[in-house]
This record gives sequence, C-alpha cells and structure tokens, in this order.
Amino acid sequence: MADATLYEQLGGKAAIDAAVDKFYEKMLADDRVSSFFSGVDMDGQRNKQRKFLAYAFGGPVSYTGKDMREGHAHLLGKGLNDSHVDVVIEHLGNTLLELGVAEELVKQVAAIAEGARDDVLSR
Ligand code: HEM
Repeated sequence: MADATLYEQLGGKAAIDAAVDKFYEKMLADDRVSSFFSGVDMDGQRNKQRKFLAYAFGGPVSYTGKDMREGHAHLLGKGLNDSHVDVVIEHLGNTLLELGVAEELVKQVAAIAEGARDDVLSR
C-alpha cells in the first residue's frame, strides 16, 4: 500500500460519501460563509460538495486553475476573500478528523485545498 494515492488512502468514493453531509452541514451552519451558498438548489449543492471533496482528496475529478477561477469568479463580487478559504479548510479538516482520518492525511488534504487558494480568489 506504500504507493496508494491519497484518494485511495482516504477511502475513495465511500469516504467522500461519508464526509459530504458533515462538511455541508458545517458550512451552512457557519454564518461566516453560508451566504455564498444561498440560492443554490439542494441537489446542485450536494453535487458541488462531492466535487469539492473529490478535488481535495486528490481524486479522479480534476480541475485546472482556470476552472477554479471561473467557478468562483461570481463569488468575488459577493466579497469572497482569504478568510472564507480559511473557513473552508477549517471545516474540511474538522470533518475528516471527526471521521477518524489520520492527522497526517488531513494535512495533505489541507495542502491540496491551500493550493487552490489563489485560483479560487482569481489572483
Ligand atoms: C479552498 C479551495 C476551494 C476549492 C478546492 C473549491 C472547489 C470547488 C469545486 C470543485 C467546485 C465545483 C465546480 C463545478 O461545479 O464543477 C466549487 C464550486 C463552488 N464553490 Fe468552491 N472551492 C474552494 C473554495 C470555496 C470557498 C472559500 C467558497 C465560499 C465560501 C466556495 C464556494 C463555492 C460555491 C458557492 C460554488 C458553486 C456552487 C454552485 O453554484 O453550484 N468555494 N468549488
């Protein structure tokens, strides 16, 4: 298993399924970020969370920096900034820790999300 990908080590698709509700609940319950998700239908939102987690897990769903810039450009007008990326990474980490994921793997996931920061903020 030494060369298993991060995605495989985390448990792949099954792990995403386990994490998606927990992560989504944390985001919507947090008034620092919940407003960015208003007006998006439930199914679309769950799908987004799923894609987000697949991305952060280093999984088969791949996005370019351009995709990340275009996907979040409309949020910049609503004030999206570094503090919101911090909140996403915080909730992502706590979700995984609550599910029993080892701290070392949580750090790797946080690093992937961190790597998208400048694209998400169009810098
Ligand atoms: C930390 C880095 C981030 C990553 C890796 C990331 C990843 C993604 C991905 C993969 C999508 C789905 C794109 C698609 O539909 O194909 C997405 C959409 C979205 N993200 Fe992010 N995101 C990040 C930060 C944020 C932050 C900080 C916010 C706001 C607090 C945010 C809010 C949203 C919203 C509202 C959508 C669109 C939902 C929709 O309209 O369906 N994201 N993001």
